[in-house]
Amino acid sequence: MSSRLAPGWRFRPRLRSLPGIGRPFVLISVAYHRRRAALSSVGADLRSTQLPAARDATTVAVGRWLAEAGRRLLLAPYRRERVDLPPPLVEGSHRFDVVADLVDFTGLQPELVRLLLARRVENFRTEWLQSPPELRADAWFYLSAHTYLFGNAVHFHDTPALVDEIAGQLPACARVLDFGGGTGNLSLALAARGFEVDYRELSALQKDFTRFRLQRYGLAEQVQVLDSWAPLAPARYAAVCAFDVLEHLPDLRAAISEIASSLAPGGLLLETPSFGAGLANPMHHEDPGLDGFLREEGLELGSRSPNFRVWAKRGGL
Ligand SMILES: C[S@@+](CC[C@H](N)C(=O)[O-])C[C@H]1O[C@@H](n2cnc3c(N)ncnc32)[C@H](O)[C@@H]1O
Repeated sequence: MSSRLAPGWRFRPRLRSLPGIGRPFVLISVAYHRRRAALSSVGADLRSTQLPAARDATTVAVGRWLAEAGRRLLLAPYRRERVDLPPPLVEGSHRFDVVADLVDFTGLQPELVRLLLARRVENFRTEWLQSPPELRADAWFYLSAHTYLFGNAVHFHDTPALVDEIAGQLPACARVLDFGGGTGNLSLALAARGFEVDYRELSALQKDFTRFRLQRYGLAEQVQVLDSWAPLAPARYAAVCAFDVLEHLPDLRAAISEIASSLAPGGLLLETPSFGAGLANPMHHEDPGLDGFLREEGLELGSRSPNFRVWAKRGGL
């Protein structure tokens, strides 16, 4: 019968007992086994702790690199877009400087705020395109988006004549709803002109920014920031301004019904239809029948300019 033991095992007891050889042999043998045990514990530590940690660190590094590459790639289709720095909007004694407001509100470096305004670092389309599809549900996207803060900041600052045109449509000192009011530019401008303004916006960040600006410019009494989850009060407004917002709403029928019932008889809706999704606005919806919804709610198209349409609610004097 063949032995399974390593050859030579039988000699070890004899070696140990040989004078002059036994003691060094034992010492070498002990050192060898200690070293082997130490090496095997190093190996176990390498396998159980160090390799997984190195693997995770590499995964994070590669993931960050890919995310950065993805961010740059998604910006590429918009590389020719030019967005100028919005100049301050001057309304009577007020001078609304949205760039300074953003720097102070965000705590970001002025140069970075300028790059974000110019849509060079990211923009609302790249934020939307980068979001996992299941997080692109309209309400959650607008509630949590951070890039619209910079995307919307330029509006009305770049077209001050538009504020004149809007104000020209409204009865003096009327109560107006700024629906989807973004960074508060129109609300501030109308408040500075003596209108009583309610501002309603889904984005938590823009809403907070608008509160910051209202305090900064001493207009908190003239503008009420509404909770987006609270229903609009019926027949409260002489006018509702809905600029660049209706095409963002997944349930336009319900929104129009709410807006229409918030208008007093004879009240006006100023809106800018801009439906249709594409590269420029991947988050937009197609028109589900806005004009029909408005007519069903008792609104009639009064006038249209290149900048907006005005609908009037029946029942006015
Ligand atoms: C293109 S921006 C226009 C903002 C502003 N009217 C302007 O002209 O600067 C559209 C805005 O609508 C807001 N919004 C989207 N869904 C909304 C909703 N259901 N209620 C209120 N605001 C909403 C978005 O957060 C975004 O700020």
